[in-house]
Amino acid sequence: MEIEAIAGDIAQIEAGAIILSFFEGMEHLDGDTARVDSILGGAISQLLSQGEIKGKLDEVTVIHSLGRLPAARVVIAGFGRKAELSLDRVRRAVAEACRDLRRRRVETIATIAHGAEVAGIEKAAQAVTEGALLGLYSFRKHMTKEAEPGEIKKFTIVEADKAKLSIVEQGCDKGRVLAEATNLARDMVNEPANYMTPGHMAELAARLAETHQLELGVLEREQMQELGMGGLLGVAQGSREPPKFIVLRYRGRDSSEVDVALVGKGITFDSGGISIKPSEKMEEMKGDMAGGAAVMAAISATAQLKPKINVAAIVPATENLPGGDALKPGDVLTAMNGKTIEIISTDAEGRLILADALGYAGKLGAKSIVDLATLTGAMKIALGEVYTGVFGNNQGLIDRVIAAGADAGELIWQMPMHEEYKEQIKSDVADIKNVGGRYGGAITAAQFLAEFAGDTPWVHLDIAGTSFSEKEQNYHTKGATGVPVRTLINLILSLAE
Ligand code: BES
Ligand code: MN
Ligand code: ZN
Repeated sequence: MEIEAIAGDIAQIEAGAIILSFFEGMEHLDGDTARVDSILGGAISQLLSQGEIKGKLDEVTVIHSLGRLPAARVVIAGFGRKAELSLDRVRRAVAEACRDLRRRRVETIATIAHGAEVAGIEKAAQAVTEGALLGLYSFRKHMTKEAEPGEIKKFTIVEADKAKLSIVEQGCDKGRVLAEATNLARDMVNEPANYMTPGHMAELAARLAETHQLELGVLEREQMQELGMGGLLGVAQGSREPPKFIVLRYRGRDSSEVDVALVGKGITFDSGGISIKPSEKMEEMKGDMAGGAAVMAAISATAQLKPKINVAAIVPATENLPGGDALKPGDVLTAMNGKTIEIISTDAEGRLILADALGYAGKLGAKSIVDLATLTGAMKIALGEVYTGVFGNNQGLIDRVIAAGADAGELIWQMPMHEEYKEQIKSDVADIKNVGGRYGGAITAAQFLAEFAGDTPWVHLDIAGTSFSEKEQNYHTKGATGVPVRTLINLILSLAE
């Protein structure tokens, strides 16, 4: 889909459809909507008085212009109550309208920078662009038949004031970079595990490195052995696919320091290993590399936005399978930092590979670390598919991550950590064990990771509930959501300031 910003009058644009707004509870039309209404001979106000248009969020009303406008259709999108307008509602309303128009085989859409009154014109243009690109996402790579042939070819944001066009363009460009990165992560997560192997993730990293001038390092099994990555090697033991330890680096300032390391869990398929999972919904475990996908996508977007900061994206990638050589409950592993881990469940594998990745980030001298992982079912039980849980050892960094999420419309809720939870992961035979019992499972997992983050300011995001959606909801499509790619990009941009 081509995206452009132009100066002009939305009422004079030639397109398959123009999208205008209406707010719930308003008695009269105003702005562009009122102007277009009079051109249409009162068609919109008539629908309003008949109660067909209410302005509720997600409401889409399509009116054919029958030659009275250069645009073939006028869409009145409900944005909810005016007082509750937010950029996230803009994303959502635009996504809903775009999807509706795609179903109607419309190919070109024009709209304005909705939401400028609450957040300024640049952020409004960004949100509109994100809404369109995120809402229209689909994953049809493995469909041999065109299930849903409609395709929006062109999306135009029209700005009435010529002097403001360059600001709209900036917002539009930024929105495109953020949304395309999100959709890249979605593609990676939706990709079946027989395609998205650790080796394939490494190849993709090489492609991204080339496209965006990132530095790439991929450690193979032998180098993992030299570095003592017992956690990653232990999990990889049961699989025939060779594990990969992927490091992408972006240098935005002239120094070899790593200002922030993004660490993403890269389990390309989690069967549970010897502690095998029930078969119901096991197919969703192809998405257990969502953290890894998010950090690869976020650093690619960073390279396009060019902030003055140095970033490393680190992805320990492996399958978790029950082979003849597989890790067993009761086994003891030694992580890269020398700590020994007793395996209680081979299904608590994410924390084992992250232990080494956190150790590696520490060795790089990263000044701060953000890890993200589809780590625990307990997180999904606690917060559902709506909020991502955040943990950490540095309140300042946690607050910045939450704020970066709020900007992106990605909801993040802080979870507690406390010394007392450590009791649950004390082992009788090793320094620590990898499961802390039934209660507070997301917290004991975070408490485990804290042991490997050391004193570096560190934040952990458990995206088990939010990276995958069981249904289409607002600008998320069914399946991978790409959460929290936009949060990460916002965070990097804010840390660079
Ligand atoms: N990848 C899973 C967590 C998960 C569950 C992600 C559901 C997304 C949806 C993780 O590796 C896992 O299996 N965790 C176990 C930990 C337990 C054995 C302590 C879990 O949550 O059951
Ligand atoms: Mn698991
Ligand atoms: Zn897992």
